[in-house]
Amino acid sequence: MSKIQVTFNREKGTISRYIYGQFAEHLGRCIYEGVWVGTESAIPNHNGMRLDVVEALKAIQVPVIRWPGGCFADEYHWKDGIGPTEERATIVNTHWGGVTENNHFGTHEFFELCKQVGAEAYVNGNVGSGTVQEMQEWVEYMTMDGISPMSKFRRENGQDDPWKVKFFGVGNESWGCGGNMRPEYYADLYRRYQTYVRQYTKEPLYKIACGPNIDDYHWMDVLMKQATPFMDGISLHHYALASKWEDKRPALGFPDEEWFSLIESAVKMDELITRHSTIMDKYDPEKRVGLIVDEWGSWLAVEPGTNPGFLYQQNTIRDAMIASLTLNIFHKHADRVHMANIAQMVNVLQAMILTEGEKMIKTPTYYVFELYKNHQDATMVDTDGVISDTASYTVSKKDGMMTASFCNYSLTEAETVTLSLVDGSFDEVEAYGIVGKKTDDHNSFENPNAIVKQAFKDFSVEENELTITLPPMSVISVYAKGK
Ligand code: AHR
Repeated sequence: MSKIQVTFNREKGTISRYIYGQFAEHLGRCIYEGVWVGTESAIPNHNGMRLDVVEALKAIQVPVIRWPGGCFADEYHWKDGIGPTEERATIVNTHWGGVTENNHFGTHEFFELCKQVGAEAYVNGNVGSGTVQEMQEWVEYMTMDGISPMSKFRRENGQDDPWKVKFFGVGNESWGCGGNMRPEYYADLYRRYQTYVRQYTKEPLYKIACGPNIDDYHWMDVLMKQATPFMDGISLHHYALASKWEDKRPALGFPDEEWFSLIESAVKMDELITRHSTIMDKYDPEKRVGLIVDEWGSWLAVEPGTNPGFLYQQNTIRDAMIASLTLNIFHKHADRVHMANIAQMVNVLQAMILTEGEKMIKTPTYYVFELYKNHQDATMVDTDGVISDTASYTVSKKDGMMTASFCNYSLTEAETVTLSLVDGSFDEVEAYGIVGKKTDDHNSFENPNAIVKQAFKDFSVEENELTITLPPMSVISVYAKGK
């Protein structure tokens, strides 16, 4: 039994809604089939975007979508993806399965997707194989309102008004698939490329430098030392693995030790953010520069019989634990983590949604994002007290409403927690959650509702004390008004 004291008036800063961002790459069936089916498809769509997927994404209030990659971004030449679809360049997606990419989903389609979902745009530019001019022209094409060669070109392609690009990434994984660079070299390249990422609108463009791979603290130090004044954010990538990188473990039918090894790998995020932030603090004590965790999530073996280059994996109650624990870590570091983008939105890695032709299912991870959506742009509330080693939580408030979210990843033990409100009492309490019975409980196309968000009743309220019993393998969110 744990007791947590909650002091509503002790605030710890804002949880940016952008922490709930998504990543959508031209990889496997993420964009093609997962989002884009084309206007001629028998799958119900609006301007080529499948309606079921867009509806599901709207319901979790996706704040931002990162596109077009990933490794794909550093081979992407944006002019291949504009103009009449049948005239667009057909290329090879060398990173992801060597399949044909017909470029039917390009810049115009991406902004149509953002509009339909209600998300902002995070566009990742090409440093690895693209030129400075190409990047400069893309930004001009997307955002220039007045008369210019690129705005004229955009208008000729049917888009009069400029789009809003909130975030722009200058290269992806430049230490790896984005060019195998050394940090000293990339830092100079970053300074050069970002110079031509021009500001054509009043609203500032948030520029993101390519940050380190996992625990490459040297990369972070060099970038911050050499380029801090030129950046608004710096990225970090960390994937949860159940074993070694070369030995991806199955998403279903895994032994209990892989429940824990995957979780252990995911919660390393806390240490990574802490240590990278310490380096960032040296050069940016005001915390102006955001740590942008624009790729995170579980990376498991592909489903048997699927293309290994498509990274299609099932998603279980264990992935829900990964999502909940990681989001709680991001909340804790909300002063430095300004955005995060789970990899990836549909059909790839730790996805929200899986599709099979016209069928669509929501994953346990999807339901965590739904349970947690009140934390978006909420104020973190300071708490005192300890909770068991296999649990984690966040308490936040927004518009007089408290949201307390818990993850209990024990396989066997329920955890009873009392929230004791120091400066008020609880009113109109409701709880919802997802609860596993087996470690690999998941939704399938045959059984799409095995794990869904459900009303949760195992709690009691007495004035300022709320006591809740969290079952093993559960994520529960409690919503209450404070009086
Ligand atoms: O998300 C899959 C891949 O993982 C991305 O393309 C790349 O940036 C990372 O290595």
